Amino acid sequence: MFEEQEKILKEEFPQLLDRVWLNSSAFVPHAKSVVKAMHQFINYFHDPTIGEAVDNHFRDVTNDTMDGAAKLFKCKSDDVSLVINTAHGLNFPLLGIDWEKGDNIVTSELEFPTNYYPWKYISRRKQVELREAKINEKLQISEDEIIELIDDKTKLVALSLVQFNTGQRVDPKRITKVAHDHGALVAFDAIQACGATEVYPKEMGADFLSAGGPKYLMGPLGIGLCYISSNVVESMEPPMQGTGNYDFTDGDWMNREKPYHKGAKRFQNGTVPFYCVAGLNASLKLINSIGIETVSKHNHSLIEQLIEGLEELDLQIITPYESSRRGVLVHARVDKSKDLNKIVETMEEKHKVTISTRYDGLRFSVHLYNTEDDIQKGLVALKHTLKEI
Ligand SMILES: Cc1ncc(COP(=O)(O)O)c(C=O)c1O
Repeated sequence: MFEEQEKILKEEFPQLLDRVWLNSSAFVPHAKSVVKAMHQFINYFHDPTIGEAVDNHFRDVTNDTMDGAAKLFKCKSDDVSLVINTAHGLNFPLLGIDWEKGDNIVTSELEFPTNYYPWKYISRRKQVELREAKINEKLQISEDEIIELIDDKTKLVALSLVQFNTGQRVDPKRITKVAHDHGALVAFDAIQACGATEVYPKEMGADFLSAGGPKYLMGPLGIGLCYISSNVVESMEPPMQGTGNYDFTDGDWMNREKPYHKGAKRFQNGTVPFYCVAGLNASLKLINSIGIETVSKHNHSLIEQLIEGLEELDLQIITPYESSRRGVLVHARVDKSKDLNKIVETMEEKHKVTISTRYDGLRFSVHLYNTEDDIQKGLVALKHTLKEI
């Protein structure tokens, strides 16, 4: 528990007071301030007198959101671009790299489809080799293997910072160092980490780090953040083009020689869902008001409690034990005879505890609104459920 938690729970998440939400890896119920910010934005557009002021409104909300993202990521606001989902950010290297036959992409077998299909597509289209580090006997990916797969023909290393299924977290600095030594770029799918734990893309040496809003960033569906390194901004043309890439702040719309925006914003090619930006702005404010270090510490401590309790119930923990090696989700396996969907359903309907099933096991995830009591209730509910079904 952290100092402001009780107040935040009452004011922002009253809908969670009589239930236990251990499913933030899937999505997060909106905080009240997120809903309010979106309503305000929609109401603003209901008003026909807004006229020209609308552009200023877009700009203010966007700038405020970028400042929030910069604070969360410990980078400059110029290093962040708005994206509509995680894949959007990963499509920047997909479309922006000059792929040649014989190049390769290094990834892993554990990835969510978002971080697989873009690479499968380009591999087919351009005869680029797709190299996947194997899932080992512990259902984890070996970083040594990832590193061995990188060579001078590697143009991109694309990995999840935290895996959606097992919760394994890679050591990003180790990967980016080797990739850069070979002249490759590194893109992280960070949706399972941003907002829940410290994610500092500049310190990691990431070239791209993309995260959709609706999970731990606690934002609305349809908006997210993508960090883009200054090295990429200087060396890669934004591959998706439109008005948004260019600096039209002077309103000179017929000018055909406009320069790109400064920084990562040049990768945004047009209007984004601003209602959602307003919501994301509010959720970033909420996370930043507590501080990501505090949120992370809180989440990791609940995960420790959870792992201990799950082990007492004889579940097999697949997630790495070391906190630096995992996110804030736990993947645990139950006896094979048990019906996983039935467990999830019973937990939900009978005990008001929301979890999910992924990858032949149960997935439990925590965030800033969870308490030690939630974990205890979740464990008791699981114990009963396992006996009942
Ligand atoms: C690791 C990971 N990446 C990406 C996504 C979602 O991708 P997108 O934001 O492009 O819809 C998920 C959603 O479950 C995920 O777990």
